[in-house]
Amino acid sequence: MKVIAINGSPKREGNTYHALRLVLNEIEKEGIETEMIHVGARQVQECIACGMCAKNKDEKCVLQGDDLNLWIQKMKEADGILLGSPIHFSGISALMKAFLDRAFYVSSNNGGLFRHKVGASVGAVRRSGGVPAFDMMNRYILYAEMLMPSSNYWNVIHGAAPGEVEKDEEGMQIMRLLGKNMAWLMKVVDEGKKTYPAPEREKKVRMNFIR
Ligand SMILES: Cc1cc2nc3c(=O)[nH]c(=O)nc-3n(C[C@H](O)[C@H](O)[C@H](O)COP(=O)(O)O)c2cc1C
Repeated sequence: MKVIAINGSPKREGNTYHALRLVLNEIEKEGIETEMIHVGARQVQECIACGMCAKNKDEKCVLQGDDLNLWIQKMKEADGILLGSPIHFSGISALMKAFLDRAFYVSSNNGGLFRHKVGASVGAVRRSGGVPAFDMMNRYILYAEMLMPSSNYWNVIHGAAPGEVEKDEEGMQIMRLLGKNMAWLMKVVDEGKKTYPAPEREKKVRMNFIR
């Protein structure tokens, strides 16, 4: 089994990286492979709402210039997806928003590539605004019919300078517990799928509320 972690910070080894590492360390202890992708390593373009991913149905975004299509395939092949973002103005980073909009739009327009995978999110914040950003990432996970493990608080850790989150003992416990629960849920789901076939994916009912 494998977990793909997404680091949505512009900093390669900032607090988001450290938060993700705390979760991944526990997952690795349970014998699950992990890989962290730093989406901030290159500029990620935002979704232009062209709808080509729905038209082409080739599991790709037509925009060029970043590795989004490679990352989508890595997420599709993984059993678990862990999202991590720094908190920018009480929300996720612009980089993370651009990544999530495109990746999850391609997924939903191509049969639900992340459906029934285990998914969780974490946020790194100096002081406040962590929970709205955490909620925001969770909404992508819930939209995609993914399965979400929890911890003993909302998954937010505090720190300003890179690495400072490791002074937040409560935050560190939240990350550790999330890792343990995520690894456990992945194993339960993996075993459970052998006994209980997943429900059929339903075609989306769309209403625009214009009449
Ligand atoms: C543009 C920007 C906006 C920020 N907004 C907030 C905020 O709303 N609340 C807060 O407590 N910290 C805020 N911060 C601080 C970061 O959330 C904090 O330093 C975090 O640990 C950065 O994670 P990183 O090292 O992974 O980038 C902001 C930082 C930046 C650069």
